[in-house]
Amino acid sequence: MCGIFGYVGNKQQAADIVLEGLKLLEYRGYDSWGIAVKQGKKLVYEKHVGKIGDAKINLPQSALGIGHTRWATHGGVTEKNAHPHMDCTKTIAVVHNGIVENFQELKEELIEKGHKFISETDTEVIPHLVEENLKHEGFSSSVRDAFNLLKGLNAVVIANAVSKEIVAAKTGSPLICGIGDEELLVASDASAIVKHTKKVIFLKDNEMVIMGKDVQLLSLPEGKKLEVKPERITWSFEISTKGDFSDFMIKEIHEQPNVIRNIAENYSSQVEKLAKDVQRAKGTFFIGAGTASYAALAGTYMFSKIAKKHINTSVASEFNYLEDFLTKDSLIIALSQSGETIDVVEPLIRAKEKGCKIIAITNTLGSTIYRMADCNMLLNAGPEKAVASTKAYIAKVSVILMLAYSLVGQIEKARNILLKTADEIRRLLSKKTVDQIKTIAKALSKTKNIYAIGRGASYSSALEAALKIKEVSYVPTEGLAGGELKHGTIALISKGTPCIVFAPQDETYGSIISNAIEIKSRGGMIIGIGFKKEEVFDHFIEVKDVDSGSYMAQVVVAQLLAYNMAIELRLDPDKPRNLAKSVTVK
Ligand code: AGP
Repeated sequence: MCGIFGYVGNKQQAADIVLEGLKLLEYRGYDSWGIAVKQGKKLVYEKHVGKIGDAKINLPQSALGIGHTRWATHGGVTEKNAHPHMDCTKTIAVVHNGIVENFQELKEELIEKGHKFISETDTEVIPHLVEENLKHEGFSSSVRDAFNLLKGLNAVVIANAVSKEIVAAKTGSPLICGIGDEELLVASDASAIVKHTKKVIFLKDNEMVIMGKDVQLLSLPEGKKLEVKPERITWSFEISTKGDFSDFMIKEIHEQPNVIRNIAENYSSQVEKLAKDVQRAKGTFFIGAGTASYAALAGTYMFSKIAKKHINTSVASEFNYLEDFLTKDSLIIALSQSGETIDVVEPLIRAKEKGCKIIAITNTLGSTIYRMADCNMLLNAGPEKAVASTKAYIAKVSVILMLAYSLVGQIEKARNILLKTADEIRRLLSKKTVDQIKTIAKALSKTKNIYAIGRGASYSSALEAALKIKEVSYVPTEGLAGGELKHGTIALISKGTPCIVFAPQDETYGSIISNAIEIKSRGGMIIGIGFKKEEVFDHFIEVKDVDSGSYMAQVVVAQLLAYNMAIELRLDPDKPRNLAKSVTVK
């Protein structure tokens, strides 16, 4: 939620560097944005409502600047509420990610002391607190003392025009500091930094970094100096750009065959190690949010079918209410692309308190969940920028599939299935299939509501398909288990109501086709996705049988449907309204 960027160095183009950084971070929030740069002993700023797009800015040359792209929490989407927020003297500017839970009381105290507030945000208390502290102490301790007063999980980047420094501090939400050649950068995501430098510090919670002529790392509570141990980013800038594709979503969909191939070829030993933890545990739980929760659900079915083992699955935000089950022998496998989702972080904190073992399957090195875990498995799917998750879903299911086979000593079989799946997905991405999908997407984009059904592991495909379509096309879509239709939802089927039916070659086939016939008899329009054309299908997309890999390949068809619906409706598939890529607030 919200993208933060800061630059201090020897170049005079801070405003442009920050703007470019914000464009790379815009997927994190895009209702408004702003940049402040140092001019003499003051900070000057520009703020705008809406997406950055091709915006140009009109700020002076400067060697220090900070910027923000917002996903509103407190205060409406207005220029005044856009960040950066300033103190009364215009020497301090703040960009912020998180929620200051005690902002109201802090604001009242500051108003009493004579501070003037312009916005309705919680953030604005921060520059005024720093301003107040600066009356009796230096910049870094002013920030530290101010930050330590904030309740909630927060990440801030604060610029000081007088000391020519930027301080970044966090108790939640990611912040990465880049160490370049005579320049320092800070951002919410390494992909915004990698063009400048691959040498980075992933800030931990309760740490702050002071960026001026050099870089210093401090612990937030005590202000103790910490050793700076930079890490190296292993991927290149190009990976985080659209390349020849028009949108990130379609680029990421196309990357999936390689993502699967990489897991098939390189993950055997990590997966076998993980399998031992699963074998040892007395009770294993998958948790995740949104798409990650559907990957978890697919995993539960795969574990049952392949490994004959029961794994509990819970939507992460509900897991807190189930935690009474947990003991020190429980194993929690947290699935998260970003590694930052607060709904996943919170139950992990509680599980840790109970002594459970935590394994993180994430796509983001150094993320909060990555650091909280006892063991990590990085998906290495490359940065996922489109808000709608695609390749991370496929990567998570690939790892889980391998894990399930590994538990019964058949990891080679898993690798073969994954390689075949990668080929099948490549075939689905061919012009011929995509043209077919485009025709269906055109029809679907004109409808009022859509249903998607599946049974077994395809039930999770139905949920994921519905989520993808809702997110990027805004067409209300409900995913449900095929058997559930007759318990209520079938009342909504009338002439022409579209229903996507996932019908792979497995034990669910006969029953799901019966459900399709039930829908058809009530006038429904059936879009069949499976290995065999049936008479009941009005439209059909063939997904060749690739064993349990079929559950991934069929989701790719749904991703393409959703993407092409967004294009048909002239919507931005990468930045759907009201959403943000990484959900770090409750
Ligand atoms: C997926 O398309 C969504 N944008 C969303 O459901 C996402 O999967 C969810 O917010 C969890 O994110 P994470 O994987 O980064 O934890």
